[in-house]
Amino acid sequence: MAARHLVPLWAFITLTRRTAFATVITVHQSSLRQLSLSSRKISTVFASASDMASTAKKVLVPIANGTEPMEAVITIDVLRRAGADVTVASVEKELRVDAGHGVKIVADSLISDCAQTVFDLISLPGGMPGAATLRDCGILRSMVTKQAADGRLNAAICAAPAVALGSWGLLKGLQATCYPSFMEQLSASATAVESRVQKDEKVVTSRGPGTAMEYSVSLVEQLYGKEKADEVAGPLVMRAYHGNDYTIRELNAIPWTFNNGPQILVPIANGTEEMEAVIMIDVLRRAKAKVVVASLDDKLEILASRKVKLVADTNLNEAVNLPYDLIVLPGGLGGAQAFAASEKLVNLLKKQKEAGRPYGAICASPALVLEPHGLLKGKKATAFPALCHKLSDPSEIENRVVVDGNLITSRGPGTAMEFSLAIVEKFFGREKAIELAKIMLFVSP
Ligand SMILES: *[C@@H]1O[C@H](CO)[C@@H](O)[C@H](O)[C@H]1NC(C)=O
Ligand SMILES: *[C@@H]1O[C@H](CO)[C@@H](O)[C@H](O)[C@H]1NC(C)=O
Repeated sequence: MAARHLVPLWAFITLTRRTAFATVITVHQSSLRQLSLSSRKISTVFASASDMASTAKKVLVPIANGTEPMEAVITIDVLRRAGADVTVASVEKELRVDAGHGVKIVADSLISDCAQTVFDLISLPGGMPGAATLRDCGILRSMVTKQAADGRLNAAICAAPAVALGSWGLLKGLQATCYPSFMEQLSASATAVESRVQKDEKVVTSRGPGTAMEYSVSLVEQLYGKEKADEVAGPLVMRAYHGNDYTIRELNAIPWTFNNGPQILVPIANGTEEMEAVIMIDVLRRAKAKVVVASLDDKLEILASRKVKLVADTNLNEAVNLPYDLIVLPGGLGGAQAFAASEKLVNLLKKQKEAGRPYGAICASPALVLEPHGLLKGKKATAFPALCHKLSDPSEIENRVVVDGNLITSRGPGTAMEFSLAIVEKFFGREKAIELAKIMLFVSP
């Protein structure tokens, strides 16, 4: 927001007799006198500086037990990157929610505490039984219904368009989409279409985890315009095209084997990129891997890079006692710095490398954790584009996912799903990975 530079901020409402519309404008103090002298249209001082200190759009993302965590967290994170004031509200009795695939999220508030707030957007994540719990929440239903009646934006993804918006009768006469297995149900309450993201009037709908990032960027565009959406999309390193396939760059191919699981360690810390962490945990658990999410700190709850509160399964002190078939690091600047400073984690990674067992990292972590500790020596790797200059061998950085023997690296939130699918492919084979990619709508079903 550029508002910081406008000191102080004033807002005026411009009223003309012939037109019924009102326009809110902000001006520099220096131009204020000139403006007030030159324009007779300005008739009312509408708001004080403090009221206008922020023009952040207010967004509500309700969550419940069984909410698909990728869909919730991607929406929250991407909208916060755009500067939106996102409230994550639990529709359960407590703030702590058990989202799908064992991902534990702590909401910012209870839905009952937001009932009086006016939001610019309410976005419903999918996942079952999460979407059904959203549907059955009376407070949420009246908020979303009022939102529609007042002409403000509603959005839903995966099961939620059919299960919540459709069953509340809010999609009548509109084109909408949803998760493939809910399309029949959707067609009873809307004109069901197969777009990855569909907008009609004031409703945006989308299909599943694999479309959640496109959906979220399109919500940014609805609230802030195309330029902002492009600005937010750039650093995500999104996929330009979703076909029937995805590719990874593999060098020095060796089989990745496991005895039990595979058992995979995903460390998290304050500042960890929540989309990357949640995508890895969720996708790997969908493939039936045993994922251990370990907080670096004794405290299990961490505050991720875009302020999503995630709860780990255990802490690193406990987690180091188990053997791992793979250790993978999510990115996020603060998280990567914490990993790099953890002697315990770095030693664990070094042992993993020496034993020839798989390890990997995405986004900031290849450059800030693996490289400085010699864990990329003699290996090809990639990283977050703006940090690739730190890699001593940049020859393969343009690839979205690089596998070099027992090392796997990748670039950012928008490559996290391919990164996770590549891990599935190495442990369970390509067929399984493609099947999962289809189920998640990452590639065409
Ligand atoms: C939802 O999950 C929370 C956190 O684990 C749990 O305490 C609560 O009982 C669950 N609610 C329902 C309705 O199952
Ligand atoms: C992580 O962030 C939380 C919330 O801001 C804070 O209470 C906690 O002390 C932080 N932990 C570390 C290890 O910095």
